[in-house]
Amino acid sequence: MHAAVVYYSLEGNTRLAAQSLASRLGAELFEVETVKPYPTHGLAKFFHGGKDSTFGRLPQIKPLTMDPSSYDLVVLALPMWAGKAAAPINSFIKGRQFGNAKVAFVIASASGDATSCAKDLAGKLGRSVGNTAVLSLKDPAKMPREELGGQIDAFAKQLTSPAGGAF
Ligand SMILES: Cc1cc2nc3c(=O)[nH]c(=O)nc-3n(C[C@H](O)[C@H](O)[C@H](O)COP(=O)(O)O)c2cc1C
Repeated sequence: MHAAVVYYSLEGNTRLAAQSLASRLGAELFEVETVKPYPTHGLAKFFHGGKDSTFGRLPQIKPLTMDPSSYDLVVLALPMWAGKAAAPINSFIKGRQFGNAKVAFVIASASGDATSCAKDLAGKLGRSVGNTAVLSLKDPAKMPREELGGQIDAFAKQLTSPAGGAF
């Protein structure tokens, strides 16, 4: 299966999960980076990212040559910001065609409940969340490594099983 994992991470939680999943899937790994970095400390951290996600702003991202429609499977990995997808992932999605690629999400959050975020993201892709495999992780960098590894393994199996898991 020709698979890609595309991730954005402000503080490393999503990066850890994305790297681990890509290695288990044998997938290509792409990092979305903003031209202007978001603050990582204090109130500014929540203010700027929260505002951009809430109001659907699209921060400028560094050039990334990646055509989702050329893959069988594209996993989008991202932190939840203000109950929605982190804004830089929306910048990645904008203008890209996903064609027949299956899409799955890995969503990192402080609460571990990414229901609203998955729905928001699936809608942006014109997909139904019921037909999209979602792995919701509570601050993966803080999880015991064995627990994270177990969840990533199970998700990789779901994505590659002939039955197609949640697809
Ligand atoms: C701007 C901003 C908004 C956030 N909003 C939420 C939220 O609405 N719900 C939640 O559970 N966590 C929220 N978080 C926490 C992150 O989703 C969580 O810590 C995630 O694991 C961070 O991933 P990262 O290290 O890859 O950036 C927010 C964090 C930031 C920076």
